[in-house]
Amino acid sequence: MTTPRISISALHKRFQTDQGEFVALRDVNLSVAPGEFVTLVGASGCGKSTLLRIAGGLEPPSAGAVAVDGRPITGPGIDRAMVFQHYSLYPWLTVVGNIKFCRQLRVHRDVSTSAEVEAASGRADALIRLMGLSHVANAYPNQLSGGMQQRVAIARALMARPHILLMDEPFGALDAQTREVMHDLILHVSKLEKTTMLFVTHDVEEALYLGHRVVLMAPAPGRIEAVYDVPLPGRREQDMKLAGEFLSLKREILAGIRATSSVRTDQELLDRLGEIPALQNDSV
Ligand SMILES: Nc1ncnc2c1ncn2[C@@H]1O[C@H](COP(=O)(O)OP(=O)(O)OP(=O)(O)O)[C@@H](O)[C@H]1O
Ligand SMILES: [Mg+2]
Repeated sequence: MTTPRISISALHKRFQTDQGEFVALRDVNLSVAPGEFVTLVGASGCGKSTLLRIAGGLEPPSAGAVAVDGRPITGPGIDRAMVFQHYSLYPWLTVVGNIKFCRQLRVHRDVSTSAEVEAASGRADALIRLMGLSHVANAYPNQLSGGMQQRVAIARALMARPHILLMDEPFGALDAQTREVMHDLILHVSKLEKTTMLFVTHDVEEALYLGHRVVLMAPAPGRIEAVYDVPLPGRREQDMKLAGEFLSLKREILAGIRATSSVRTDQELLDRLGEIPALQNDSV
């Protein structure tokens, strides 16, 4: 058996709060194979971001461990890159500047040869072409649409050839059409670069379309509730979202999220809203 690219074992995370100890993650176990695309869904507060931050080395676990290629992680590393919902680009740098920035810092620190600087430059150019950003390479972030800014953020994350991309609702702020384009782009990139993906989303359709497996998490305490294999061929096409198998799995996962969500509306209060004169249609 090959060593998992990511191995999460007996992971617990506790936070100290004013109300005492809060268990954000309890006994989380998950293995992700090299090149696998795993998506995480679950009700708000179930610990998806916390899990990703621990895998990124930004947060220490309270117990248990995350290993990459069999070695426990102790902090951030260039084998892992993160992409968040907010693009966090440097506004004073152009597209090309943003993509090369971190790499340049490293190159300076390592006192690299001019050949290495040139190779980094070639990689940046290739990523700009791959992401369809050639026509805006010299533009600044505030001149770009949200979708383009997120492409820059992904290109920047890919610059150091990470083995693992950790993405936390990266397309959460984009409109539906731009999202579809980004889905096919990220699938293409993950195959091309053989990147292992851990991808958090609130959108079950997105989770199923992108993932080889979908992990359903539940809150209070944050835990893995179920793991689903996605019964779709490796090469995804948008029409697959309409297939019966896809829709019934989507329904099942949505029901699972609803059943474990701690955020509830007061149905009685909602029912009574219609009786309040100021909220009745004819008084508007
Ligand atoms: N630094 C912290 N201190 C105390 N509690 C925290 C801290 N970070 C996260 N939490 C709590 O841990 C729980 C999990 O948070 P997390 O952000 O991982 O959830 P999530 O699944 O990403 O939610 P969402 O879907 O809303 O993004 C939440 O209840 C949150 O309030
Ligand atoms: Mg989150």
